[in-house]
Amino acid sequence: MSSAKIKTAVFPVAGRGTRFLPATKASPKEMLPVVDKPLIQYAAEEALRAGADKLVFITGSSKRAIEDHFDTDHELEEALKAQGKEDLLKLLRDIVPSYASCIYIRQPSPLGLGHAVLCARPVVGNEPFFIHLADDLIDAEVPCFKQMADVYAEHGGSVLGVEPVAPSETDKYGIVATEEKRGRLAKVRQIVEKPRPQNAPSNLAVVGRYLLSPRIFDKLEHTGRGAGGEIQLTDAIADLLIDETVFAYEFEGKRYDCGSKLGYLQATVEFGLKHENLGVPFAKYLAGLTDRLPGK
Ligand code: UTP
Repeated sequence: MSSAKIKTAVFPVAGRGTRFLPATKASPKEMLPVVDKPLIQYAAEEALRAGADKLVFITGSSKRAIEDHFDTDHELEEALKAQGKEDLLKLLRDIVPSYASCIYIRQPSPLGLGHAVLCARPVVGNEPFFIHLADDLIDAEVPCFKQMADVYAEHGGSVLGVEPVAPSETDKYGIVATEEKRGRLAKVRQIVEKPRPQNAPSNLAVVGRYLLSPRIFDKLEHTGRGAGGEIQLTDAIADLLIDETVFAYEFEGKRYDCGSKLGYLQATVEFGLKHENLGVPFAKYLAGLTDRLPGK
């Protein structure tokens, strides 16, 4: 049992986003919109809804747009006010509530996710914290981080958001082997970064949601380059496992891998269908396309 609230969420956004070039040449992948909101705003909203109030962005080159997005744009607000567009004004002001603080730390070069997380150490301090990878968009009734915070409140330790993936896909993820599952929860025995299907200990993949003990920073200080020549968070978690309990939690909700073009298109279609104003006309439009689908 732990009564500590998770107040800090770290958003590593310093990756190069090569799978989305040329769109990500001058603009970050995390600013790609799903319908009308950028991925990074969905991410911030999930953390805020889980109780975090300190949002830490680990940024790199070409990431200014993220700071601008969360900053107040006085000129735009004045213009909207003058035009009486109160609804749009509210939309802007609601991007981040006033009680939350945004902190930006520059990762000097993209040495890997583990290195990006280590850059957050000075502002996270000695408390458990969330890590959110914005390209994994999760649509859930109860925000995924809230589900994980509830697990932490009951069991302590660190918590990884996981889901089963196709066995052929294990080389895209950190993969865990666990002890016996109780409901959606199991203790992690082993974690490996991007194993080939024939070497994978299971098909349970860690997605972009972590709730980690601050001990991870000590581990990251000593983590060398791993898969792909990068400093991997997975390797530091493997080290953490030796001293502390780490849980794998199969979250409730649907994940869209918006780091891949197909996942991004799927999210766009499904969020479009759910949109309160666009849902009906968009569904009609899609229905009209069916005769153009292969096999028709
Ligand atoms: P990815 O593996 O998705 O890499 O990083 P990427 O660079 O973003 O995208 P591709 O594969 O080239 O298309 C996982 C997460 O880790 C962050 C990324 O921003 C992303 O959120 N990251 C990765 C960093 O912040 N720094 C790094 O050095 C590497």
